[in-house]
Amino acid sequence: MNLHKPVYEAPDDQVAWLGTDPIPARAYYDPAWYERERKAIFMRTWIEIGHVCELPEPGTWIRRELEFAEASLLIVRGKDGEIRAFHNACTHRGTQLVEEESGRGTNFLCPYHMWNFADDGRLVAAPDFERFALTKAECALPRVAVDVCAGLIFVNLDPHPRQGLREFLGAYADELETLPVARATTFHEYTYEIEANWKITYDNFQENYHLRFVHGLTGGATVHPDNNFGYPTRYGFNGPHRTQTIWSNPEPSLKPMQVFNFGIAARKGVEQGVIGGPNDRTYFALFPNFFIIGTPIQHFSHVVYPLSATRSRGVFRVYWVGEDDSAATRYAREYTLCAIRDVHTEDVNIIRRAQKGLSSGALKHIHFMSMEGLCRHLYQQVVEQVEAWETEQQLEGAGR
Ligand code: FES
Ligand SMILES: [Fe+2]
Repeated sequence: MNLHKPVYEAPDDQVAWLGTDPIPARAYYDPAWYERERKAIFMRTWIEIGHVCELPEPGTWIRRELEFAEASLLIVRGKDGEIRAFHNACTHRGTQLVEEESGRGTNFLCPYHMWNFADDGRLVAAPDFERFALTKAECALPRVAVDVCAGLIFVNLDPHPRQGLREFLGAYADELETLPVARATTFHEYTYEIEANWKITYDNFQENYHLRFVHGLTGGATVHPDNNFGYPTRYGFNGPHRTQTIWSNPEPSLKPMQVFNFGIAARKGVEQGVIGGPNDRTYFALFPNFFIIGTPIQHFSHVVYPLSATRSRGVFRVYWVGEDDSAATRYAREYTLCAIRDVHTEDVNIIRRAQKGLSSGALKHIHFMSMEGLCRHLYQQVVEQVEAWETEQQLEGAGR
């Protein structure tokens, strides 16, 4: 008989302040609720959309689609080195300026009537322009607020953001700067779409309760008799954002291939000084939809963009410092992304099933236990921000 009793205690006291109330299920499938979230949160909060290594030099740009806003954005590093963001919409009659995902060049030429925009958004030339009752200065591309922290690019669709990015991130801004992602020069990525609400999709990555049951094949590194539910060692909260610190398994059951590849990735990380930082094993969940974890060998991010009340698009990235300068490094990097994908493959179907059960409307409430405290915190933040937005609308409606 196995008398081994788990010796590790969960830090439940750190989430007690969140309470234990049941959570209304409607927030996870109702289109009317989603519309409130969209306006109150996504249309006016800093949203992560990429990394500065995608804009390595002046004249480079990327296009990003934000479906929740029906927006297509151009993020451009200008000749002066500044990063700016614009709507990908010609100010003549709205035509999208570029269809490519990224490119180089210091001008954007509209294919419809050849209006030509500089990399700072100014209209610099337009055929037969004298026949418009306009000045070129009135025709600049619409700007979108953009800022960078730890190499990560954030945009805010509010024409007048309530806070700057650093103020929004609070104390986490400096902590994020210690992560390898701040110095990343390249990344591997994969994206997916899923028939699930953005919070359901995101919450799956905010709790360890399911690890033991859903990740039987790939979860060997996270479960140990001393801590068989994989309780984290610490929860942290900072405004709308949160962290948890992942427990370090002293005897991870890794497959030989994992040992080999993680060894290469780890050695490389030590050489480059990206391993052993103060936030190794800390999982940052930035409101509303971004997370990054800097474990010693995998520093990967995951962003969940809502497409509708019950559909989302996710982007996984593993960031690296330096090029893969050997076959072994290249293999180890590809392997790391594939290993994350294997874990995610186990999650996808269960997330869809959760959504199906919720979308049936059969449940009035769902329930979070203490280890799902980060999920509870996200829900509470969402409600707080939706209510704050509605109060603002009412005050504006009352003419104040
Ligand atoms: S729509 Fe762009 S130049 Fe006419
Ligand atoms: Fe999972």
